[in-house]
Amino acid sequence: MLNFNFQNPTNIHFGEGQIAVIAKEVPLNAKVLVVYGGGSVKSNGVYQQVIDALSEHIFFEFSGIEPNPTYDTLMKAQEIIKAENIDYLLAVGGGSVVDGAKFIAAAAFFEGNVEGSSEGSDPWDILAKQQAVTKALPIGAILTLPATGSESNGNSVVTRDGNKLPFSSPLVRPLFAVLDPSVTLSLSDRQISNGVVDAFVHTIEQYLTYSVNGKVQDRFSEGLLQTLIEEGPKALVPATKENLDVRANIMWSATMALNGLIGAGVPQDWSTHMIGHELTGAFGIDHARTLSIVLPAVMKVRKEQKREKLLQYASRVWQITEGDDNARIDQAISLTEEFFEKMQVPTRLSDVNLSSNDIDLLLERLAQHGMTALGEQSDITLAISREILTKAL
Ligand code: NZQ
Ligand code: ZN
Repeated sequence: MLNFNFQNPTNIHFGEGQIAVIAKEVPLNAKVLVVYGGGSVKSNGVYQQVIDALSEHIFFEFSGIEPNPTYDTLMKAQEIIKAENIDYLLAVGGGSVVDGAKFIAAAAFFEGNVEGSSEGSDPWDILAKQQAVTKALPIGAILTLPATGSESNGNSVVTRDGNKLPFSSPLVRPLFAVLDPSVTLSLSDRQISNGVVDAFVHTIEQYLTYSVNGKVQDRFSEGLLQTLIEEGPKALVPATKENLDVRANIMWSATMALNGLIGAGVPQDWSTHMIGHELTGAFGIDHARTLSIVLPAVMKVRKEQKREKLLQYASRVWQITEGDDNARIDQAISLTEEFFEKMQVPTRLSDVNLSSNDIDLLLERLAQHGMTALGEQSDITLAISREILTKAL
């Protein structure tokens, strides 16, 4: 096992009716900015529950954070933060809203690398130049879409002019998060699928690498993968889609998949995500749908490097015991693709009307963003990314 440090201080409130706890979680003397997206929270009653819980607080609102939140939208929040002396952010929504709140929180104090001066500094440097976040507004999260794990991690992904870039800081990790599975009942099938697939691929990125004998991490990961394989499809069929236990298992899996626990002390890949971000940035494809296209190709192209873990995945997650090593690996990859198909997400670039003509642009973007040594061994060069994208056609 590798050395690691693990601390996850986000206070999780899980279950039906838990939104009311924000009345106590948010300090009474805080000046709160409630941030949300395009309005789903108003039609499903979540907004009303938040407003009711904040009846004793002073709060303002900032809405319109779009899926794959953009720099331009998020920077608009700075005006109200300055004008009203906001000192607490309450993010109400999916990963995009929580990620957006994180960037808003960090940008509020960003001074750039100019000592003691804010002249000429641009918070975009937090992403583009990976400049350190030194201070951020505190954040609380009311999660409405289980997928990203953003509610209890320090990661955020922001887009500017088609450039979709991540940043990470413990200072933007939500102090608390409310996870009420009943608020996910208003999700469309497309968003349910996206969430299950995103959580599945988060787990794979931290599991399907090379073995360091991290038995606890491996078995946690295998448990999450099996839970998502069992429960994900149930959330799409009429007989079980309203079942709150199904929703609860999906919601907790998604949080556990990216809250730092399963990735502590083991190598991590993330090549599927980095290539996927270029597909979203260039062509606007939903985040999870880029992952379901790229991951099977990564498994095929990196079969030799991932051999030992692919065999473990085949036997422990899919219970494949027959055939030689290659046959078992191929079967595990096919079953992964079948699972994605069952979740109604694409598994090929051609499924989203992209062809070999589009690959050059994606490689240019990867080069431009410094994504030239990806994967757990930093050995996925641009040439190998081309091979992966070609395999995904
Ligand atoms: O904007 P509203 O009206 O709220 O509608 C949203 C949005 O249109 C809707 N929605 C959310 N909760 C709902 C709901 N509709 C009905 N009922 C509800 N309960 O769903 C749509 C998609 O929401 P979004 O927040 O974009 O989805 P998701 O949670 O999948 O977040 C995706 C973003 O997270 C980033 C992705 O790159 C993408 O930008 N990621 C963040 C990560 C992190 N912070 O750790 C890791 C991930 O790998 C990922 O990169
Ligand atoms: Zn993801």
